[in-house]
Amino acid sequence: MKIGIANDHAATQLKNTIMEYLQGEGYEVVNFGTNSLESFDYPVAAETLANAVASGEVEFGIAICGTGVGISIACNKVKGIRACVCSDTTSAKLTRLHNNANIICFGARIVGEELAKDLVDTFLETSFTHDERHQRRIDMITDIENRQYKA
Ligand code: RB5
Repeated sequence: MKIGIANDHAATQLKNTIMEYLQGEGYEVVNFGTNSLESFDYPVAAETLANAVASGEVEFGIAICGTGVGISIACNKVKGIRACVCSDTTSAKLTRLHNNANIICFGARIVGEELAKDLVDTFLETSFTHDERHQRRIDMITDIENRQYKA
């Protein structure tokens, strides 16, 4: 499975750890983030990753900044993206089961390395339920995207 990963300067270290971990598990990981500790604007990495997920270039995305919040907001601006900030494995599981989330976000200043590994494992190993009520709600979210005001 091909996974994309994106990060800002606050998450370079954790990104490297997660990349190495996933590669060890047999995933192909495409790095869309910065490799530097110098200040880097997370919307840049978020947009590149989100477009790769939306286009199908990668199946799922992992987006990490200091809190996971800024990068998730940016990812969610791309049509077709359902990015969820998680700092517990229950949310990581349910956002796949119920929301069919395609990007998991977390904060390098919030979660430790072991929890981050559990989050990505849970996210990547859980499939969407395809229950009618969950698909209906996802379709309603897509409808919101399609109704957006365009200047
Ligand atoms: C960078 O200092 C920090 O603001 C960023 O990593 C993130 O936490 C934003 O939401």
